[in-house]
Amino acid sequence: MEQKRKALEDKIAQAQLGGGVKRIESQHKKGKLTARERLHFLLDEGSFEEIGMFVTHRATDFGLDKEKYLGDGVVTGYGKVNGRLVYVFSQDFTVFGGSLSETHAEKICRIMDLAMKNGAPVIGLNDSGGARIQEGVVSLGGYADIFYRNTLASGVIPQISAVMGPCAGGAVYSPAITDFILMVENTSYMFVTGPNVVKTVTHEEVTAEELGGASTHASKSGVTHFACANEIECIQNIRSMLSYMPQNCEEEAPRMAYESGNEKRRDLNTIIPANPNQPYDIRDVINHTIDTDSFLEVHKNFAENIVVGFARIGGRSIGIVANQPAVLAGVLDIHASTKAARFVRFCDSFNIPLLVFEDVPGFLPGTDQEWNAIITNGAKLLYAFCEATVPRITVITRKAYGGAYDVMNSKHIGADMNYAWPTAEIAVMGPKGAAEIIFKNEIAASSDPAAKLKEKETEYQEVFANPYRAAERGYVDEVILPEDTRSKLIAAFSMLENKADQLPRKKHGNIPL
Ligand code: HXC
Repeated sequence: MEQKRKALEDKIAQAQLGGGVKRIESQHKKGKLTARERLHFLLDEGSFEEIGMFVTHRATDFGLDKEKYLGDGVVTGYGKVNGRLVYVFSQDFTVFGGSLSETHAEKICRIMDLAMKNGAPVIGLNDSGGARIQEGVVSLGGYADIFYRNTLASGVIPQISAVMGPCAGGAVYSPAITDFILMVENTSYMFVTGPNVVKTVTHEEVTAEELGGASTHASKSGVTHFACANEIECIQNIRSMLSYMPQNCEEEAPRMAYESGNEKRRDLNTIIPANPNQPYDIRDVINHTIDTDSFLEVHKNFAENIVVGFARIGGRSIGIVANQPAVLAGVLDIHASTKAARFVRFCDSFNIPLLVFEDVPGFLPGTDQEWNAIITNGAKLLYAFCEATVPRITVITRKAYGGAYDVMNSKHIGADMNYAWPTAEIAVMGPKGAAEIIFKNEIAASSDPAAKLKEKETEYQEVFANPYRAAERGYVDEVILPEDTRSKLIAAFSMLENKADQLPRKKHGNIPL
């Protein structure tokens, strides 16, 4: 038995070395951790159970019969994050550049199948040169097997992708289907076609970092939700994000112990500037309302005119969508609409109640927006809110103008509760624009058109630039002082705790894409 034990230990040691010491050193020199080191930091200590450690590839062409590595370039298994089960795969760049072979794909599929059957999240740590070139079509088939599972798992279990190295070609589509992507500055990139192909086809000269690095995808394309300074920060973000989510679509997110005390937040009373056209940072409103330090902002650097992220209120996990008056006056545009729509749909899939802070002057005008389909894209957010059945509450802090009033989780489209601060202005448009249109003739006929416009603007403002017309109709349930927002929200989310709502029977809807 001792001999057998020694043989097994040798085999395990060999598997743990992946592609060998030299390649591990090369990985470290690039500022990257190895596949196993990443899992060590991701999972609770001692919780990792590996599956398929001795799997090797079957291919024999191009010398593959002579070069084999135990595990075949991906470490797969399950473990715990904050005591809760997760399934993981971590690609090993030291073995054929982490490239995806037939068996490598089978290992990932096995983990995904287990995750689906047992209702727990899948976390993929991607670091790969793409399809294993020597294997041809079977590696392409392997990718497709993964994409198919990603899609079937969408909305059933949370799926998180960290991109910690190359991710190119069709390989990008697995992360793209998952719920959240995290990238690491300077060591990871994602693109469908790399800089060389770009140069040949469009004659553009661009580096891999510029074309598909973390900053590019965090701010320009919105492909990644997080651009992390290093791999440890990336892994910490994954751990933190999971704490707001349930294990699957049948469960609720975990709750933190919370003892209620004095819930008044007087700082909220002084955030809205006296001048309605002056910006303020909606994050101040968010942070003074929620449980201390509980805001985890998602998609921070993309479409900054809307802020989305996870938070807790009274210990309960919620998703926040908030117009940001500090950027483009908080206007809704194409990127803001798609960013928020995707987040709303994630929260709704996983039973995370939604809180909306609204201060929106409307949709962004212009040819750029119209020609790039603000109609279709704005409809995504409208559709996402309409379809969401989780508890939904809106707080109007200031402007709620035009179609954006309807879109931003109004009661008409299914919000459960709608509060307004006394500073709220709920109308078809701002007073100046409104006065210019409806009093056009009167203003033109006046001996002092400017004074007339001002007079009519004030008149319109007195009638509509307040929350009371909406409250009279019940579109706003209550006008509340900012300082009472937190206590109202804790009470309302608790009241809505057992909300049961169903959509009409259908195969699936047809969200405007
Ligand atoms: C087999 C691969 C590989 C691949 C890298 N390697 N990519 N082996 N198949 N796809 C091997 C290298 O031969 C090398 O082996 C080792 O991994 C490390 O690679 P290096 O090139 O030395 O590393 P680096 O300089 O960091 O460059 C990384 C890289 C480059 C940019 C990823 O390796 C590269 O361009 N690879 C090919 C990328 C590619 O075109 N993939 C196919 C994409 S199409 P040794 O033995 O020297 O250590 C695709 C289709 C998916 O993926 C379809 C889904 C629908």
